[in-house]
Amino acid sequence: MAKKYYITTPIYYPSGNWHIGHCYTTVICDALARFHKMKGEDVFFLTGTDEHGQKVEKEALKRGITPLAFIDPLVAELKDMWRLLDVGYDRFIRTTDEDHVKCVQHIYQKLYESGDIYKAEYEGYYCTPCEAFWTESQLKDGKCPDCGREVTKQREESYFFRLSKYAPRILKLYEDDPEFLQPTSRVNEMVNNFLKAGLQDLSVSRTTVKWGIPLPFDPKHTAYVWIDALSNYISALGYGTEKDDLYKKYWPAELHLVGKEIVRFHAIIWPAILMALGEQIPKQIYGHGWLLIGGEKLSKSKENARPELTDPYELVKRYGADAVRYYLLREIPFGSDGEYTTERFLLRINADLANDLGNLVSRTQAMIGQNFGGTVPPCGREEEADKPLRAMCGELFNKIDADMAALNAPDALSDIFALVDRANKYIDETTPWLLAKDPEKRERLGTVLYHLAEVCRMCAVALKPFLTVAPAKILKSFSCDENAGFDTLHFGVLKEGMAVEKLPPVFPRIDVKKELAEVEKLVKKSTPLPPSTGGGKGDPVSAGEGKSCPAPAEEEARPQPKPEISIDDFGKLELKVGEVIACERVEKSDKLLHETVKIGGEVRSVVSGIAKFYTPEEMVGKKVVVVTNLKPVKLRGVLSEGMILCAEDKNGNLSLVSPEKPVESGATVR
Ligand code: MSP
Repeated sequence: MAKKYYITTPIYYPSGNWHIGHCYTTVICDALARFHKMKGEDVFFLTGTDEHGQKVEKEALKRGITPLAFIDPLVAELKDMWRLLDVGYDRFIRTTDEDHVKCVQHIYQKLYESGDIYKAEYEGYYCTPCEAFWTESQLKDGKCPDCGREVTKQREESYFFRLSKYAPRILKLYEDDPEFLQPTSRVNEMVNNFLKAGLQDLSVSRTTVKWGIPLPFDPKHTAYVWIDALSNYISALGYGTEKDDLYKKYWPAELHLVGKEIVRFHAIIWPAILMALGEQIPKQIYGHGWLLIGGEKLSKSKENARPELTDPYELVKRYGADAVRYYLLREIPFGSDGEYTTERFLLRINADLANDLGNLVSRTQAMIGQNFGGTVPPCGREEEADKPLRAMCGELFNKIDADMAALNAPDALSDIFALVDRANKYIDETTPWLLAKDPEKRERLGTVLYHLAEVCRMCAVALKPFLTVAPAKILKSFSCDENAGFDTLHFGVLKEGMAVEKLPPVFPRIDVKKELAEVEKLVKKSTPLPPSTGGGKGDPVSAGEGKSCPAPAEEEARPQPKPEISIDDFGKLELKVGEVIACERVEKSDKLLHETVKIGGEVRSVVSGIAKFYTPEEMVGKKVVVVTNLKPVKLRGVLSEGMILCAEDKNGNLSLVSPEKPVESGATVR
């Protein structure tokens, strides 16, 4: 029976404003999942969203919509991001999923019945952004010790979990199983910062938060979001239900990979809950480091994540999914923090992907094309010069296997690229361009090119867990199966006469200076503001296209008459009446408003450049005309799923287009 491998990411807050730092955990998990699948293991890879709690409740209230109406588009956006980055999870769990809700209630009921949950009164401090409780002595200068933001004093009736009881067992777990919490520096953090002082029982229910899972034995209380969230790792497998085959098969997880700021929830609270439930403990919690900008965690709330530089949509659109995945997997030493800059990103993908790998493939294919009519040449007698290259090929799998056992994707990639490097050196040593000039050296030329073709093929196979586009292209161009597995990581798979197609550059070389200037321009262009709405997700700052509420006239060229269109062209537009049910200014923008628009039974988030002409208060209640079939776009990090139509006078003043008589929202405009 195949070995099982259960791997999880944390479930994401539906905060929107995704940046490249958010992709880090999940891209690593995806590479690990792909690697283990390729090894023939039975892999289950879980990710999802963490949807309950005060933050969501407040945001939805602010917009006058239900929490789910607020969350749904953000969840869709997150899934879109994973699709874009080729993240192939086996389940995307939402904490609002019915099976999850039932499982959390089951867990609470069980702990209540066993006496591990009891009722008392909570008095302490709560940090809403972190959804974390703190005692007065834990605060730093009266603020949250994790994020430095304001906390609120709270006193309420609450159910408590007997966390204190489990402290000795958790300490013993760390001692008995050094693999449980990695890297080891995190063990010291947990012991010194939390366990040494002894654990206090944990408040695990709230009466003031309505957007949560009601406790089965006292429904005016909702579940504490961290217990709700952590339970996803077993609820996703059907724990506590009759359909628990997945749980029986996959639990305990091989790995919960998490960012270092949430290790304490995973390495203290989670094992304690599992101990109380009498269930097995996950085999490993790994707390990885952060992507930093200017030495600080890359974070939308700290405003260091400029979308032009860090928005995954932008980066994938400009450089491709492979480039973004490669950067994340290769650049940051595993377990440590790593500074992110556009320049480092560009230099890394240029050097490794465009220069080293791209060159090797294109030189090999070009020489096979010129000298052997685009087919694999016969491999003749092996010579001394071939031996180091062959030896490296022979060691490749064992090396990356050991690296990945230590979860170390940067080292695995470094080992693959050491082979790429060696092959490029082999070209310099064997000088195939000179061999090609001498008809007597034709057999040797064939042997050299055969070796190079085999290295290209093997590197493509070895890269498959990490990159999802280029390896398949390379394999196909050598007439190989793109599904080739690790069992093909040996010499002799290519056969004489197999077709070799010359690929266009797999990774186009980037002129880093020019590209940096280009990106700088994009940042400047969006600094006071991007033009209103319009364009696709990948085109958030494109002026003109699809614009309805344009920027003031001085920034606009005088409109030219547009070419005639047919009724069919016009019919491509979907226009509907919407009612603005909430509206606010987009942070740090003097032109953009963010409207929540009800269009029939649907609620959409729309951004428009009308803040100079309407206040948010004026907008609420207005009936507007919305273009509803425009590709969504993010403006200043805010999702815009449509465009509100305006009339513009010659001075650039805007006036909303509204139906002249009362009409219901959702009505078609034609
Ligand atoms: N909802 C909780 C997790 C609950 S798990 C039971 C949460 N969500 S999150 O959306 O804030 O974070 C999701 C993941 O993104 C975490 O692993 C977090 O560490 C990671 N990152 C967010 N910003 C990051 C960087 N700048 N760098 C690297 N990873 C970062 O926490």
